[in-house]
This record gives sequence, structure tokens and C-alpha cells, in this order.
Amino acid sequence: MKNDSIGFLDSGFGGITVLSEALRQLPDENYIYYADNEHVPYGTKTKEEVHNFVFQAVDFMVGKGIKALVVACNTATSIAVRDLRSKYSFPIVGMEPAVKPAVENGNGKRVLVFATPLTLKEEKFHNLVQRVDHEHVVDYLAFPELVELAESMIFDRERIGPVIMEKLKEYDLNNYKTFVLGCTHFPIYKNIFKLVLPGHIDVIDGSSGTVRYLKCLMEEKGILNTSGKGGHIEFFDSGVRIINEERLKIFKWLLAEC
Ligand code: SIN
Repeated sequence: MKNDSIGFLDSGFGGITVLSEALRQLPDENYIYYADNEHVPYGTKTKEEVHNFVFQAVDFMVGKGIKALVVACNTATSIAVRDLRSKYSFPIVGMEPAVKPAVENGNGKRVLVFATPLTLKEEKFHNLVQRVDHEHVVDYLAFPELVELAESMIFDRERIGPVIMEKLKEYDLNNYKTFVLGCTHFPIYKNIFKLVLPGHIDVIDGSSGTVRYLKCLMEEKGILNTSGKGGHIEFFDSGVRIINEERLKIFKWLLAEC
């Protein structure tokens, strides 16, 4: 059981930002990374569509044998994590936009949460904001363009920087202290956000908290792999199931960069 893999699911490249954190905190584990590239993006689809895609993907990973699952996609988490936990008994961890730490970090200054349209539409997100935003400092903005850009393998500052600044042109950035990257694709561009934004704005995401929580759950269940031997990663794309060379290179490059 300890040698079984941890499954990571995302619609595409985004979950790599969480997997890279897992490799830091849990280096001895084996991983299966599943990119549902046939159906990406999730964030502009309907709830029912995303629910079906997630269950298809997880059933595939269960067939490969997994001991735990990270739904490394904020949109998929909002739509399906509760139902996944009812169906499967292994530990399942999802993503939550880091709104609470952002509010605590802001000292009354405003917070801007970026996520997909579907995440921002869901009750789960609004309940979270209601729970932690007592001073009403949280704003939010759908940014599906960044998912499209990442999936088109556009990663350079020259092209991404202006897209970010254009999106923010109506905002007085002096009012903001913290930006929350509430979609796992967005931390791919974390360094570009930091470069183009004024220095007083902190840019945060939820990856390290998610992996810490995963580690706790696996410890409790006695399924943590601490062999000291290092693990391996298997990558799958939903369309072809077998990853092509070009995409494999991008996955590995992102793992090293994020
Ligand atoms: C997407 O596929 O639209 C991005 C999903 C996410 O991480 O929220």
C-alpha cells in the first residue's frame, strides 16, 4: 500500500504547480499525474460536464491503483470533491483558494482573488468568503484567459505580462495588499505576476497548505512512504492516454520551474 501512487488530477498543466510542492514535501512517494487535456478548460464548462469529466478521470486512475487523490484543480474541487469522497474511501484532498491567509495578511487592505468563472459561480467559494471576510475586503475576478494561454504553452513574460496588466486596468492597485491565485494554472505565472505588479502586493496560492493536509491524512492512515529511496511519476493525457514527447517535456520543465 505504501508504494502505491498518489493520483493528481487536473484539466491540464495547472496541477503540476501542486505536484511540484508534493515532490518537495513528499519526495519518496510515487505519483500518477492525469491531465484531462481532452476537456480542458474546465472553468468555462457547465457543472454537469465537469462532474462527468472528473469521475471519468478518477475512475481511470483508480484502475491504475492509487492510495490517495489530489484534485489539483480548483474548479474540479468545487464541483466534485464531495461526491468523490462519498464514492471512494482513500484520502481525497482538493484545492481551496487561499482567501483566509490573504485576509489575515492584508491588515484591512483589499484582497483580489483570481479564479475560473465556474469556481467563482459556485456556492463553495461564496461560503468561504463569507466565513473569512468579516471586513468585506475581498474582491474577485475570473481570469480564464490564463488557462488558455498555459494550455497553448505560452509562458514568456513578454506575452503574459501585458495580459495581466490589461486585466487589471480598472483596478487601483494601491488599494490591494494580496492577490490570491485561485486556479492551479495561475501559479505557473507567479513570477510574472510578481514582476509586473507593484512591490507591495503579495501573490499567494494554496499549494503548500494542500500538500501539508495530504501528508497529515496519509500519516493518520499509516500510508505515507518514507523509504528514503525517492519515487517516480507517471504522466497521462486523457485524449491519448499516452503523453507525447513535446508535452512530457513541458510537464518536466514546469515541475522544475514551479
Ligand atoms: C480550467 O481548466 O479551467 C482550470 C481549472 C482550475 O484549476 O480551476
